Amino acid sequence: MLTDAPNCRKKIRPPKETGILLMPKLTIVAFDGTRFDLDVDPGSTVMENAVRNSVPGIEAECGGACACATCHVYVDEQWSEVVGAPEAMEEDMLDFAFDVRPTSRLSCQIKMKAAYDGLIVHVPERQA
Ligand code: FES
Repeated sequence: MLTDAPNCRKKIRPPKETGILLMPKLTIVAFDGTRFDLDVDPGSTVMENAVRNSVPGIEAECGGACACATCHVYVDEQWSEVVGAPEAMEEDMLDFAFDVRPTSRLSCQIKMKAAYDGLIVHVPERQA
């Protein structure tokens, strides 16, 4: 039997009032300079968004398991500190990537969130 559930009467506030950013923006710059300006789901990875939008140069052979290094990107200099350094497992896998730089990350290990709104990453010339 159905009862009156008090939670059903809760008012859902629009994002403006709650300050929650529903779709952070992500820009992926392909090696040829083509920009992919995307509105993405929080919790999705940069790699998932690259694959979903057919960004050239992101192969992601292991599907995001941090086991192939074919989703290598360079985090734009202005975002490097915000995104931070790779965890130990990712750093080990980066040893197999092509032309690794101080801002190198595996895009499958970068999960989008409100703090990353406007994030820019660059695709290297090729993957390993
Ligand atoms: S998709 Fe394989 S390491 Fe990122």
